[in-house]
Amino acid sequence: MLQEGVLSHQRGSSRGGMIEHSLSLCYHNKLILAPMVRVGTLPMRLLALDYGADIVYCEELIDLKMLQCKRVVNEVLSTVDFVAPDDRVVFRTCKREQSRVVFQMGTSDAERALAVARLVENDVAGIDVNMGCPKEYSTKGGMGAALLSDPDKIEKILSTLVKGTRRPVTCKIRILPSLEDTLSLVKRIERTGIAAVAVHGRKREERPQHPVSCEAIRAIAETLSIPVIANGGSHDHIQEYLDIEDFRQATAASSVMVARAAMWNPSIFLKEGLRPLEEVMQKYIRYAVQYENHYTNTKYCLCQMLREQLESPQGRLLHAAQSSQEICEAFGLGAFYEEMTQELNARRAEFLARTPEQRGEPAEDTSGIIKMAVKFDRRAYSPQITPKMCLLEWCRREKLAQPVYDTVQRPLDRLFCSVVTVAEQKYQSTLWDKSKKLAEQAAAIVCLRSRGLPEGRLGEESPSLHKRKREAPDQDPGGPRAQESAVPGKLCKKPFVALGSGEESPLEGW
Ligand SMILES: Cc1cc2nc3c(=O)[nH]c(=O)nc-3n(C[C@H](O)[C@H](O)[C@H](O)COP(=O)(O)O)c2cc1C
Repeated sequence: MLQEGVLSHQRGSSRGGMIEHSLSLCYHNKLILAPMVRVGTLPMRLLALDYGADIVYCEELIDLKMLQCKRVVNEVLSTVDFVAPDDRVVFRTCKREQSRVVFQMGTSDAERALAVARLVENDVAGIDVNMGCPKEYSTKGGMGAALLSDPDKIEKILSTLVKGTRRPVTCKIRILPSLEDTLSLVKRIERTGIAAVAVHGRKREERPQHPVSCEAIRAIAETLSIPVIANGGSHDHIQEYLDIEDFRQATAASSVMVARAAMWNPSIFLKEGLRPLEEVMQKYIRYAVQYENHYTNTKYCLCQMLREQLESPQGRLLHAAQSSQEICEAFGLGAFYEEMTQELNARRAEFLARTPEQRGEPAEDTSGIIKMAVKFDRRAYSPQITPKMCLLEWCRREKLAQPVYDTVQRPLDRLFCSVVTVAEQKYQSTLWDKSKKLAEQAAAIVCLRSRGLPEGRLGEESPSLHKRKREAPDQDPGGPRAQESAVPGKLCKKPFVALGSGEESPLEGW
């Protein structure tokens, strides 16, 4: 059933007046990993490819969420990450799957759909729209199966995508209550110019335990000229590799898309037959560690594979695991975890040691930010005084607005960098820190040093500050001495101001 290679040269879409010729995914005669929320993340997709899947769909990702994401090349993992403002990786992909991964989105709006397609099109092989999800979170927003009752919107979304993206466009639908309506809908869908249609042979309100309608899929396949991808066969029809071809023949479809049977054991795609689950789970875990998959997602997928063995000793260990390391230990992969973590840390260190130019960052700093390579080492400072306190105190004396800290975390290594703004000038350390607090202290040091102000270091020429701090802990921050103007560099000769208890503290979090 399988055909060598998945790419064929096809005439691409017309964009900006230019006809582009692009490599296009072929949907004939293919074994496909279905889109599955939480299950279809990178480790599962790579594993399915290893076992023989030709095309792998990612989990459905919502357009609005994707549009908040930034594309980041992750040099440590050799991946491309789409990262949300809260630094969560929403979609991670890599070279290995680039020519075979289909990006499935949840959308109810043509313009948003196109914006998402443009965001990801250089990193994926195809774009799919989910029109089959019956869950309320999807249908409530007019997405998923809700689209099936709005053919005008379907047409708008698909034709906008076909015209606007360089990648082949597909959609995944469920069947309608009547065959007649289903056929008229798919004909309309075909006319938008999409490359293929995946049909889950159940109606919107039917659950997985209802029988899948091979007849409806067959009728669609016989009606359309584009490839039809049959879906819905897990459990009743597909339990092993050879069943996939039987399901294809029963539905007269071009290709077959498998969800649950692959979630239970992704080696369903292997011609030679299913591999033992223990071996499959170990391979899955290796990918999960290699690509820093979040342990909660790894755990979820492993639980789907273990199914009725969740009460086994291994199932209990998995259930108790609270980190990737503990998952690895539950599966006898503790040494692998150590090795892989060391390797990733070494790659990270090597990457960070490169100059900004070597890292592909602009060499010349045109940001106007004053930068220094400094770190805050707590041991070098008096226990009660920090650079942030010194800076705040100085600003008060100078009657300047309070310093404003803007801190970001880098997804690559989860380190923090803070920029502090004082009197409309920004200051930043070029060294990234393990915590937000440390990064803020480092930014404060840059500001203080560049202005020649004391920063509270032990042995600094400012003994009176430390002494006064201990002598007058209850001093009123708004008291007269706090209003005295400071001479730069002489701050620590002035009395130190400590906050009274119960007051909303600008020093909070120090
Ligand atoms: C855990 C899980 C998550 C799913 N998530 C999606 C999804 O994100 N997008 C989608 O179109 N269908 C989703 N589905 C539906 C499947 O893609 C598929 O249509 C359905 O399970 C029937 O195929 P099967 O019989 O091979 O399981 C999901 C199914 C499961 C079991």
